[in-house]
Amino acid sequence: MRTIKSFVRRTGRTTSGQHSAINQLWSEYGVDFSKKELNFYSLFCNNFPVHLEIGFGDGEALIANAECNANKNYFGIEVYDSGIGRCLIKAKKRQIINIKICSGDARDVLEAQIADKSLERINIYFPDPWPKKKHHKRRLIQKDFLDLCASKLNKNGQLHIATDWNNYAEHINKIIEKNTNFMVSTHVKHNGKIKLDRPTTKFEKKGLHKGYSIWDWVLTKIS
Ligand SMILES: C[S@@+](CC[C@H](N)C(=O)[O-])C[C@H]1O[C@@H](n2cnc3c(N)ncnc32)[C@H](O)[C@@H]1O
Repeated sequence: MRTIKSFVRRTGRTTSGQHSAINQLWSEYGVDFSKKELNFYSLFCNNFPVHLEIGFGDGEALIANAECNANKNYFGIEVYDSGIGRCLIKAKKRQIINIKICSGDARDVLEAQIADKSLERINIYFPDPWPKKKHHKRRLIQKDFLDLCASKLNKNGQLHIATDWNNYAEHINKIIEKNTNFMVSTHVKHNGKIKLDRPTTKFEKKGLHKGYSIWDWVLTKIS
């Protein structure tokens, strides 16, 4: 049993609309957690490359990416029911067909359900910063988590990470320095005005509004 979690489950904040979206749309978009490895061909009914987003929040970036890239499949993992509900409502409204969603801890889903070397790209946009020192151990980006991500990426697969939290950016840099699975292809600090290979996220917009800087990394798996 993993005791240190990168999230706190928030209950009781799901609206009736989000609740009924989960009930009605789960059979179309949802993937139940199980100990059995997924077959992406059966899941998406095609052989397009699969991009995973971890902690998609309300799914803004997941949906924007899926809408712009009809020849890719998008798999999102989130623990927050109200975010999942909002994402499902948007996906249905915009008639997105290349998205599947799993509710659970990304570490468990990666370990149990995602086959090795099966992903083209993993996106982790604005993981919870856990600002207090006593909570730093809860941060998602750790050496073992990067190793797990590397094992799930195919040849030359990419891991994209973004944060707006200075101390988390320093932490991520230290973890990347220690890792042996990835080389750094891009590392930029910016103010949200540069062109990036990703949509702006809801969490990012809040940080930019407060005047925070953003750090983006693109890591490429070393084969
Ligand atoms: C700060 S929010 C960012 C949301 C979104 N990516 C954005 O930029 O707007 C981080 C999200 O990661 C989710 N999260 C944290 N740990 C997770 C885990 N182990 N597995 C899946 N999701 C996780 C949280 O529930 C939360 O919605």
